[in-house]
Amino acid sequence: MSPVKLNGPRLLKTLEELSNIGRQPDGGISRFTLTQADIEARRYVSELMRESGLEVRVDPFANIIGRLDGSSRDAPAVACGSHIDTVSHGGFLDGAYGVMSGIEALRSVHEQDLKTKAPLEVVVFTEEEGVRFPSFIGSMGLTGLMRKEEAYALKDQNGITFEQALREAGLDASTLSQVHRGRSEIRAYLELHIEQGPILEQEQIPIGVVTSIVGLAELTVVLEGSVGHAGTTPMSLRRDPMLTAARIILGVNEIARRSKSGSVATVGSVNVSPNATNVIPGNVTLCIDFRDPRIKGLQYLREEMVALVNRVTAEDRIKVRIDEKSFTKPALMSQKVVDVIEASAQSLGLRYKLMHSGAGHDCQNMAQFTETGMIFVPSNEGTSHNPRESTAPQHLEAGVNVLLNTLLQLGNQ
Ligand code: GLV
Ligand code: MN
Ligand code: MN
Repeated sequence: MSPVKLNGPRLLKTLEELSNIGRQPDGGISRFTLTQADIEARRYVSELMRESGLEVRVDPFANIIGRLDGSSRDAPAVACGSHIDTVSHGGFLDGAYGVMSGIEALRSVHEQDLKTKAPLEVVVFTEEEGVRFPSFIGSMGLTGLMRKEEAYALKDQNGITFEQALREAGLDASTLSQVHRGRSEIRAYLELHIEQGPILEQEQIPIGVVTSIVGLAELTVVLEGSVGHAGTTPMSLRRDPMLTAARIILGVNEIARRSKSGSVATVGSVNVSPNATNVIPGNVTLCIDFRDPRIKGLQYLREEMVALVNRVTAEDRIKVRIDEKSFTKPALMSQKVVDVIEASAQSLGLRYKLMHSGAGHDCQNMAQFTETGMIFVPSNEGTSHNPRESTAPQHLEAGVNVLLNTLLQLGNQ
């Protein structure tokens, strides 16, 4: 079968339109879950789905689902998707590319009358990044890894629950469609994403076919010492949580460096109170992000991180609380879906490479639920999670054509 191609310029235009929602003066995009920018983006995406011929529903976790019926109406769906929330001052492709490509792919199926046997769906997952609430609420909810009650009780930094945030966004529980997606309702899931790393660019390969995804976890560490005057408190009498935070930050780095299994660990967020030049801080909160390709490695890292924090806080006489913000297992992609992605790339004459993902994605939760695969395109300078994130238009187009042809193949099986 010869490959189908879609409207690349229209995809670029909708990506650009979405990128203007939540745009910051430095060019970065800040769209946090259920804030004004996210609500506006949700409206934009839902409208685009309707314009593209899709039926739109919002599930109890606020995931937006756009659906195109197949010729066999009750057959399980073949789905694709990603997220539209961003990190602080993030780029315009992380997440958004997968969502807008999914819509464009389904729109092409609709316009070119390419109806598949199975219904096709595009899913916008809620809170992938974990900036406002813990990460992966949408994909954990949809796959049953998190119950609705658990999700609704989660709180943001200001103590606002997810349930309250939903209500304030006009997403009242009574208006959300109570779709429960059993395993039998989604036959396969695909996610198209930028690589967010340097490998494809360096090797000049346009398509990555992901075979495995890193396990990742986050610990929030709350340190409490004694707030005091920076001039009058003798050094020997201080209980300064900033010093303890510094020891933890260095220790976290050493733990990951010692690992031989490809572990990485980062402290990228520190909150200091009261955060004044002439005051010894009373409280410091930091978040440790750590990752490993194997579940054993991830569990080992968690034990090491907790032991480190307990040891240095005891030595420094600092009160401590450790909260597990998230823990997501590594995932293997389905060999069956990998084979279809490879065949699609080949039919389009595109070179590809099998690869591992060091970034986390909703599809690692989906992999516990259904046959799952992931497609990467190159990231310029290998960079992401910042305003410089970009990908050449021809690579964006190549990726979405692979997505479209994979959806068509899977949808007709
Ligand atoms: C998701 O964006 C991650 O942090 O890997
Ligand atoms: Mn991201
Ligand atoms: Mn992403």
